[in-house]
This record gives sequence, C-alpha cells and structure tokens, in this order.
Amino acid sequence: MKLAATAVAVMIAGTPAFPQNATKGEQLFRRCASCHMIGDEARNRIGPVLTGVIGRPAGNVNDFAYSDSMLAANASGLVWSEEMIVAYLEDPTAFLRDFLQDPRARAKMAFRLRKEQDRRDVVAYLATFAPQEQAMTGSGICVTNGSKERLFFAAEERGGARELAELAPGETLCTAASKGASGVVSVFETAQELEGCSRLVTGGDAEALIRYAKFDRCAWGSHS
Ligand code: HEC
Repeated sequence: MKLAATAVAVMIAGTPAFPQNATKGEQLFRRCASCHMIGDEARNRIGPVLTGVIGRPAGNVNDFAYSDSMLAANASGLVWSEEMIVAYLEDPTAFLRDFLQDPRARAKMAFRLRKEQDRRDVVAYLATFAPQEQAMTGSGICVTNGSKERLFFAAEERGGARELAELAPGETLCTAASKGASGVVSVFETAQELEGCSRLVTGGDAEALIRYAKFDRCAWGSHS
C-alpha cells in the first residue's frame, strides 16, 4: 500500500534527480507534528489539518485562523499541488510574497525545511493521505464540497438513485447504492440553476469540487 503510493508520487513529480521517498517523509513529518496532524482523526492544532492537503485550496480548512496572507492566497485561487508545497516549505513567507506579489505578506508558519530532498520526501508522505478515500468507503458515488461556499449538489447513478442536497463547505453527498456504480455528479449555485458543472464518476468513486465557476468551468479534485 505504502510502496504503491510512493511509486505514484515519483511518477507525478517526474523529477528523476529527486526520487521521492514517502517512508523517509513519514520520519520527517515528526518535525511538522508539533503543529500539524494528518490522518482520519486529525484535528487543527497550531497549524491546520493536513489530511488531503494536496489538491486543496490554500487556507481552506474550516475553523482554522489563517494569516491574512494565506487568506489572500485562497482568494487569489492558490491550490496546493505537490510542487507548490515543496516551494512553500523552503520559506513560507517568501513563497507568499512571491505568489501574492506583495512584499509585506507574512506567513503564520514559522518553520522551514531547507533541503530540497527533505521537502520532496515529506510531500510524498502528505500525498499518501487522499481526501476522497475517507468519504467513499462502502457507498455509491460521492461528491464533496471542497469550496468555501454553500452550493447545491446532485449525485446520480447511471439508471439508478439520484440524491440532491445543499452542502456546506466540507460536506459530502453520496448515493446509497452498492460499490462499483458509475454516474454523474453536478453542482449548481442555486436549486433552480441550469448552468453549473458536471463530472463523470466511475467505479464507485468520489469527486470533490474545489472551486465553483459557471458553464462547466469548475475546478475538481481529480483531473482524470
Ligand atoms: C511551528 C509550527 C509549524 C510547524 C513546525 C509546521 N507548520 Fe505548517 N503551518 C503552520 C501554521 C500556523 C500554518 C498556517 C499558515 C498561515 O495561516 O499563514 C501552516 C500551514 C501549512 C500548510 C498550508 C495548509 C493550508 O491549509 O493551506 C502546509 C501545506 C503546511 N503548513 C505544511 C507543513 C509541513 C509539511 C511541515 C513540516 C515539514 C510543517 N507545515 C511544519 C505551523 C507549522
């Protein structure tokens, strides 16, 4: 399980000079653990929960008091990719100044990881915690509201169950049927709206909306 995740992380990074090692990353994560938790039971501490942080918009965890600069990065559409986190960990304040083009930006995270190899390894470890995996066990097709707004969602199995609900940020809607179902998930601004976004979901999978934009221009958690 862990081996497979490491292999995938190496492929995504595509940088043979720095093969990533999630097992080493797990050891390195002890240095993050004084402030951050990760995993199913994780809660916010001095830093926000890091479960599923890759693919998540920056500054997006509910109930965490981010710095103004991180909230500005969220408003400007920053979504954490592996490469972005590798850059952030080198110098969080410098990263935010660069991203926001604001020399007075300040990160609340007073910690840096200088060695690039260490940063890549710890990010490979973060990548082993996907957000969707928790939501979908034993259910039909699911959609999670990973955006910051309340929106209307539909999950519809091919030839089967259809569920509709308004979801607060972080909430998940699933059809109740057996695993292996495929279908479509959709999101709309209001219950009457027609110009939202839809996404095909196969094999009892889950999808997460990251950012809402009309006319099928939403950002989703998966790109496949
Ligand atoms: C001294 C405490 C501390 C340590 C140690 C620390 N962090 Fe953080 N981290 C924070 C705080 C506080 C924030 C919120 C930053 C802000 O609001 O500007 C944060 C934010 C982050 C974010 C952005 C999360 C989001 O929701 O946008 C990531 C990613 C992150 N940290 C990764 C790490 C990793 C990986 C390590 C270890 C290599 C680490 N941090 C070590 C305190 C810490």
